[in-house]
Amino acid sequence: MKKMWEGRFHKETNKLLEKFNASITFDKRMYEEDITGSIAHSRMLAKQGIIAEHEQKDIENGLLQIKDEIEKGEFEFRIEDEDIHMSIEKRLTQIIGSVAGKLHTARSRNDQVALDVRMYVRKEAREISKLLVKMENVLLGLAEKYKNVIIPGYTHLQRAQPILFSHHLMAYFQMFKRDISRIEYFLERYDEMPLGAGALAGTTFDLDRHFVAKELGFSKPTENSLDSVSDRDFIIELAMIISVISMHLSRFSEEIIIWCTSEFSFINLDDAFATGSSIMPQKKNPDIAELVRGKTGRIYGNLMGILTTMKALPLAYNKDMQEDKEGIFDSIDNIKLSIEIFYLMLDTITVNNEKIYTSMRAGFLNATDVADYLAKHNVPFRQAHKIVGEIVSYCEDKKIAIDDMKLEEFHKFSDVFKDDILSEITIENCVNKRNSYGGTSIKNVEIQIENGKKFLETLEI
Ligand code: ARG
Repeated sequence: MKKMWEGRFHKETNKLLEKFNASITFDKRMYEEDITGSIAHSRMLAKQGIIAEHEQKDIENGLLQIKDEIEKGEFEFRIEDEDIHMSIEKRLTQIIGSVAGKLHTARSRNDQVALDVRMYVRKEAREISKLLVKMENVLLGLAEKYKNVIIPGYTHLQRAQPILFSHHLMAYFQMFKRDISRIEYFLERYDEMPLGAGALAGTTFDLDRHFVAKELGFSKPTENSLDSVSDRDFIIELAMIISVISMHLSRFSEEIIIWCTSEFSFINLDDAFATGSSIMPQKKNPDIAELVRGKTGRIYGNLMGILTTMKALPLAYNKDMQEDKEGIFDSIDNIKLSIEIFYLMLDTITVNNEKIYTSMRAGFLNATDVADYLAKHNVPFRQAHKIVGEIVSYCEDKKIAIDDMKLEEFHKFSDVFKDDILSEITIENCVNKRNSYGGTSIKNVEIQIENGKKFLETLEI
């Protein structure tokens, strides 16, 4: 089997080496980037008089034919051709003859792969961002639908203070909003085009790299040829961003799982988004949330994988770097699937308002508000805290809620209490008095929803 680089070799390549060395099985997904990059490169070569116009036309038409063949499933990907770059060039030679060999003028696979993978991950980063926007829209819709529903807020997974369910949802809105902006900055940072760096040192041809950058939708070419072919920090950075998204999704998943338990029963999943058990007929399992939570492991693993591969690699290209692709492809595929299935599931949940409300009587959710009441009547907060601690202990002994206490009972702990105490500490009051900027009151949540909508409108995707 002839190789592109056979000139200095005297023996056939070992078969196992061929298999070991090949990346075609996974880099074929970058065919579009490879072809688009090659077309831009050939146009530049013609513009600079390095190849003839008619040669460029043949090259471009041949490449477009190959794209078509790949998309129709007619293209044969072969291990012997090693990678997507050589597979396409080889096919181009079959179609247009030896002029195909001019395409690789002033180019190396090192800058070619750096370009392809950068374009591919930038494209996918935009897709991830679009999916996050859909998630944000679902969150806004749910926050509006269930705006007034009050749930217990937790710290240490112990009941803490009552909050609006919509406030809880909007917390995730903020997290995904930052994820979207992380992607925006990522796209901005890597808006530089590496082709033209050659193998490592640039080339002896008079290239117009700015032209190629423009053709391919980049603002400018990269500045240092060594860096252009050596670094994979953009892959690491996207793997990191995906890890953070996955972490956010995994926390949300955990809450969905908890909320679906019989012990909580805060929400119901739609039947279309839950699964059953093969043995226990009563089961309705939140598999989606569990799997999204579970995928976080491999996504973190992919980040650690590429970080470790790149550690201590000398400049410039090393074959180790071929290991940059499978991990990030896996992270991209899994995060896209996870975001989409998660927001579809979320969109169909129903909230058991009554069940939540009755369950809120236990847990002394309004204890802080009793302390705040005293503090607002001039009792130092630390002292107020102690008094309410004693009230809670008293209620626990009597197996009652603070709201069940009579004014005389309050007076056993402090004579500051007046007969407005019970109306001051209703669950609704506890929520709506938390009106400090960013707090859980309805007014604040409405502001968050408005701001959320404005944020989504300003996005250019
Ligand atoms: N398949 C290779 C990769 O993914 C392409 C670059 C190969 N360059 C080389 N000099 N062997 O990294």
